[in-house]
Amino acid sequence: MTAPFVDLSIHHQPKGFGDRVAYGFVKLLRFCADTFFAERYGHRAVVLETVAAVPGMVGATLNHLKCLRRMENDKGWIKTLMDEAENERMHLMTFIEVCKPTLFERFVIVAVQWVFYLFFFGLYLISPKTAHRVVGYFEEEAVISYTHYLAEIDEGRSENVPAPEIAKQYWGLPEDSTLRDVVLVVRADEAHHRDVNHGFANELIGAPVTDVAPCPPHAELQPNWKAAA
Ligand SMILES: [Fe+2]
Ligand SMILES: [Fe+2]
Repeated sequence: MTAPFVDLSIHHQPKGFGDRVAYGFVKLLRFCADTFFAERYGHRAVVLETVAAVPGMVGATLNHLKCLRRMENDKGWIKTLMDEAENERMHLMTFIEVCKPTLFERFVIVAVQWVFYLFFFGLYLISPKTAHRVVGYFEEEAVISYTHYLAEIDEGRSENVPAPEIAKQYWGLPEDSTLRDVVLVVRADEAHHRDVNHGFANELIGAPVTDVAPCPPHAELQPNWKAAA
C-alpha cells in the first residue's frame, strides 16, 4: 500500500487576537497531554480521540440550527462537520482495539467531555471562526503526534501489531496491514481536518481558503457495523 502523502510543513500563522488565543490554548493543551501521556502513544490516541470527535458534532449542530433560523443554505458545512465527527469516532473505535484505557483515563475521558463540550459549544456561539481555528491547530498537533507515533513504531518501541479488523474495513486496507498502515491513514485524516477547519475559519473572515489535503477513502458505516468489527 502506498502511504498517503501528508504535508507536515503546513502551519497557519496566527493572525489577530482570536488566532493567538486559539494557538495559545492548543499549545497549553499540548503541554498537558505531553506531561500526562509522555510516550504512551496508544493511550494518548484513545483519550484524545474522544475529545477530537466533539467539535465536528458541535459545529454541525450549531450550523444546522443557524440554517433553520435564517432559512439559508449551509454550503455543505453540516455534512462535512458530521463526517469529521464520525471519522474521529472511527479513530477511537480503531485505537480502542490496540490499547485499552486505564481506569483513571476512563475517568479523565468522562470529566473532560463535560468540560470540553460545554466550552467548545460556548466558544462556537461567541466566535465560530476562533472555534474552527482551535480545531485547525488541534489537528496540526494531531499530525505531529501521529508522526511521533510512527517513529515510535519504526524504532521498535511500540509493537507493529496487525491492523484491527475494523480499521481494515473502514479504510479498505489490505488483509496483512499493520498498525503502522493504520497510523498513516489516520494521520492523513487529521491533515484533512486541519485544512478543512483552517479553511472554514478563513472563510468566516473572508480570507483566502488554502488547499485541503485529500481525505483517504472511508467505507460507509452500516447499521450492523458492530457485528462486522
Ligand atoms: Fe483523530
Ligand atoms: Fe482530527
